[in-house]
Amino acid sequence: MDMANKSIVSEFVLLGLSKSWELQMLFFIVFSLFYVATMVGNSLIIITVIADSQLHTPMYFLLSNLSIIDMSLASFATPKMITDYLTGHRTISFSGCITQMFFLHLFTGTEIVLLMAMSFDRYITICKPLHYTSIISPQVCAALVVASWIVGIMHSMSQVIFALTLPFCGPNKIDSFFCDLPVVFQLACVDTYILGLFMISTSGIIALSCFILLFNSYVIVLVTIQHHPSGGSFKAFSTCTAHFSVVLLFFGPCIFTYMWPQNSFLIEKILSVFYTIFTPILNPIIYTLRNQEVKTSMRKLKNKLLNPQKANPLHFLKFTRY
Ligand SMILES: *[C@@H]1O[C@H](CO)[C@@H](O)[C@H](O)[C@H]1NC(C)=O
Repeated sequence: MDMANKSIVSEFVLLGLSKSWELQMLFFIVFSLFYVATMVGNSLIIITVIADSQLHTPMYFLLSNLSIIDMSLASFATPKMITDYLTGHRTISFSGCITQMFFLHLFTGTEIVLLMAMSFDRYITICKPLHYTSIISPQVCAALVVASWIVGIMHSMSQVIFALTLPFCGPNKIDSFFCDLPVVFQLACVDTYILGLFMISTSGIIALSCFILLFNSYVIVLVTIQHHPSGGSFKAFSTCTAHFSVVLLFFGPCIFTYMWPQNSFLIEKILSVFYTIFTPILNPIIYTLRNQEVKTSMRKLKNKLLNPQKANPLHFLKFTRY
């Protein structure tokens, strides 16, 4: 190999999660099921929110936007991994690798800002109910969505630009099922090791700061609910704990991966499965099983589709919103 030429690696080999054939078969089946369930569940949320005017509120608009991101996050690497199990073809081109990195950071960055927007919405609803309509207008909601994509794009650009400056001079086996900076960085022939670690940790520090902010706002919200017991407080409580469990399960693995990029490969792999395969399916699970409003809307939608002529009695029910 020509060591003089710095960037000669044109493709990487993704070693995947395991070498064992039996485990690969198991992963193939489990991940395919998860993938289908993620796409179906999130599509159902989006269709339900669009179809039911009862759900045309900022909270549900943000939720369906989150479903779009979840579907994207589930799709940037998992389908390739699943089909690679079948074909045995496991390489990814250099540009493919950079593209995966770009989309991973775009979708996770956007998801983080969107989760913060959702917590802001909950905070205003519960702690400043009288100002809700003057603060969270449809325009503000749309602006929050646009802002989350802009932040996502800027964050992922910074990661990709850094990755493009890395020289790769030989080793090209990635011990994971997709390309991400913490694993790819370890293949680079760099002398700026500390800079690299710093660059990777910034993602972790950003995630950690956002997490602390979210944590505080949910604590304030939950304490406020406790001090003002009213008819809707149980529902508000369950909505907020649902949001908070998504936040916890999403941030935990991200923070670990990036704050300590030198984790063992096994931990790294388990964490990466968490935020690319498990969290995208959490929203449909949490919101369809725990949220009465969404469940009712889905039932209404089903009735409407099954017998379009009949009037639907549920149509006249009104719901208080939290
Ligand atoms: C995403 O949010 C925007 C702004 O509130 C909203 O107009 C749009 O309908 C949402 N997207 C979906 C799929 O619900």
